[in-house]
Amino acid sequence: MKKIAVLTSGGDAPGMNAAIRAVVKSCLHYGIVPVGIRDGFDGLINGWYDEMDYPAVNNIIHLGGTILGSARSEAFRTKEGRAKVVANFQQHGIEGLIVIGGDGSFTGAHVLSQEMELKVIGLPGTIDNDLYGTEATIGYDTALNTVMQAVDKIRDTASSHNRIFFVEVMGRDAGFLALNSAIAVGAESVLIPETVTDIDQLVSDIKQQNKGKRSSIIIVAEGDDAGGALDIMKQVRPHFPNYDLRATVLGHIQRGGSPTYYDRQLATRAGVKAVELLKDGASHLMVGIRADEMVTVPLKEAIEKQAIPDVSKEKLIDVLRTK
Ligand code: F6P
Repeated sequence: MKKIAVLTSGGDAPGMNAAIRAVVKSCLHYGIVPVGIRDGFDGLINGWYDEMDYPAVNNIIHLGGTILGSARSEAFRTKEGRAKVVANFQQHGIEGLIVIGGDGSFTGAHVLSQEMELKVIGLPGTIDNDLYGTEATIGYDTALNTVMQAVDKIRDTASSHNRIFFVEVMGRDAGFLALNSAIAVGAESVLIPETVTDIDQLVSDIKQQNKGKRSSIIIVAEGDDAGGALDIMKQVRPHFPNYDLRATVLGHIQRGGSPTYYDRQLATRAGVKAVELLKDGASHLMVGIRADEMVTVPLKEAIEKQAIPDVSKEKLIDVLRTK
């Protein structure tokens, strides 16, 4: 293995730079040439390739976002687009590819590796935590902390004005961010895609909890079956004529920020592991973490199987709701 390419793809996530740093430094340690691909799959096709050295990754471990850039690529969906990648890789002598992203990004890498001799390793980089086979994805812990700090601020103003707030969090079709942030902020209710939302039950829960409290916070996963925070608020509002109801969509602040300790160590360990796997001839694997051990998962499983949050945690919210 003489030359390894690394790219970031899909929604960026805090910790991606720590992973890039670990990949580049590990390559250099093992005498392998690291090549950074700019702007994800667009860069793969357009040949935006930069050989990287130590200075290229100095002082980035704490930076959110990705120094390589990320982009979704329509051209990559075409055989002609992928043929350009094959030609580029052959021209540059690239034998291995590390993709830092989500399942959509891994699918692209898997397709590519079916059309050329290429070893691929996936690193789970997404704030959604929706990748099968790993307890955490790079960026998830930081996003959880961002949501927690934002909702704590909303609680201040909700309590001051005796208001009911519906707060929408990201997660695409998964409820990991919503469910676990709801526990951390003491939310009165949480709505996630993995369980059917019953508006009547929600109204009853809010009425019950409001007796003793000056505020209610309902965390709404953006992928919930009953809609986002605004939709839910509109459905609930008629039942609370004497209350101020507000909705806040946290949006893309959940994607930024300096990665937490957890994400930095996860990204660093995963980046080193990915290079060592390729160096030793492995391929078509995703690197994950379970019980604080780095593990590997067949890439196809990571792509095809679904990660489901522990919905039994919803009972915690019920037990802790003020009666
Ligand atoms: O996958 C990460 C994510 O932030 C999702 O949680 C969210 O639904 C999506 O990306 C937003 O995509 P975009 O950045 O293209 O708006």
